[in-house]
Amino acid sequence: MTNAMNDATTLKDALALYGGAKAKPTPNHPMFPGGLEVGDEERQLVLEVLASRHLFRYYGPAMGIAAHVSKVEQFETEFREKIGVNHALAVNSCTSGLITCLIACGVGPGCEVIVPAYTFFATCSAVVAVGAVPRICDVDDTLTMDPTALEKLITPRTRAIIPVHMRGAPCDMDPILAIARTHGLKVIEDVAQACGGAYKGRRLGAIGDCAAFSLQYHKIITSGEGGVVTTNDPDLYERALWVHDAAACWRPNRFASAAQPNQIFCGYNFRMAELTGAVALAQVRKLEGLLARMREHKARILGQIRDLPGLEFRRLTDPAGDTAIALFFYLADPRLARRFGEAIKAEGLPGGSAFDQDIPDWHIYYHWDQIMQKASPFADGFPYTYHEKLTGVPLQYSKTSCPQCNDLLSRAITIDIAPRLTSEDCNLIARGIRKVAAALL
Ligand SMILES: Cc1ncc(COP(=O)(O)O)c(C=O)c1O
Repeated sequence: MTNAMNDATTLKDALALYGGAKAKPTPNHPMFPGGLEVGDEERQLVLEVLASRHLFRYYGPAMGIAAHVSKVEQFETEFREKIGVNHALAVNSCTSGLITCLIACGVGPGCEVIVPAYTFFATCSAVVAVGAVPRICDVDDTLTMDPTALEKLITPRTRAIIPVHMRGAPCDMDPILAIARTHGLKVIEDVAQACGGAYKGRRLGAIGDCAAFSLQYHKIITSGEGGVVTTNDPDLYERALWVHDAAACWRPNRFASAAQPNQIFCGYNFRMAELTGAVALAQVRKLEGLLARMREHKARILGQIRDLPGLEFRRLTDPAGDTAIALFFYLADPRLARRFGEAIKAEGLPGGSAFDQDIPDWHIYYHWDQIMQKASPFADGFPYTYHEKLTGVPLQYSKTSCPQCNDLLSRAITIDIAPRLTSEDCNLIARGIRKVAAALL
């Protein structure tokens, strides 16, 4: 055996996967960035709501008391200022926020909406919920919507595009907006996973026509469940208000007749409760701190692995605007990525390979069986059958329609960057990646 072969065998033997000592023996933190920071600030604001017994944002015992400000309203004001947008409307989830945006934009039965192949399935659900159908767009090496693939999906029925700032990183909004403007399409940003991120100096959620954020427990800031719609457009905002509150409690004069035809229509109930608003308010005040910590950790890890041969890092459209919730790199082939992923897991690192055809993950179109099968809760197969009747063309979804997504994700390794990591944890993560790279690449 040559010395080089001996070295390679020794390096492999040292991997935790084969019984060696873990590179990172310290515990990992679950990826609940804001959730793990819930503390006195949230408690105080929740207690204020309970003390006032004013549990509903639009009315209650504190109504008419000048000093009383709804917690939901206060949250909206601070969120709007943080994102740098004219209007913020609190809702009860990002899914309902997306439905609100779609209806506000006039998207409904017979329309097509373009969504990326890499996003949580809820982005598609919202489209189907309004009676439209999704067109699935491939992603590029940013792991967000590929503008070149996007333009090819536009048909006379396309009404909107939903770019998703996936895993904390901004989409390439300039070309997406340019394409949308050329074809007269609305742009609805899905910012569920990237609250506080930015693109070329503007915060995500302030760039498209409107946007939806999530406050679900996994997200950067959280109230357990919840969401926010943002827009600069006063008309979209008014329509969003109608969609989110069928009871029209938001109107100063609830029963006033419409000033224009179709101004008043049947909405839903997507309102946010005061107790939720209290937690969301405390959390929005923690956003900058969370982002600063994740960005510092990511930079520390990257600084120690950037030079490794064989690692190709996810391209960021604006590195300064990355929320830094995750670090991604691509390896040469899927088999290697699967092995690498298992090895870093065994080393105690908070990560692994990003895609496995055999493991269901509703963040990847490949696993969206509901869409692939055009499954419908209705006997007549609405909305797919309705769309097919209008166009005379069967809708076809396939697990191979987005080859770049399949290729990139099957070669990708992802690491969660929790705010609670210490500097030492970050050094150990970097050490683990270097150790596995030395043995396997
Ligand atoms: C990209 C994306 N969009 C939408 C959603 C839906 O969010 P919610 O659970 O608040 O409805 C999620 C949630 O995971 C998401 O990750």
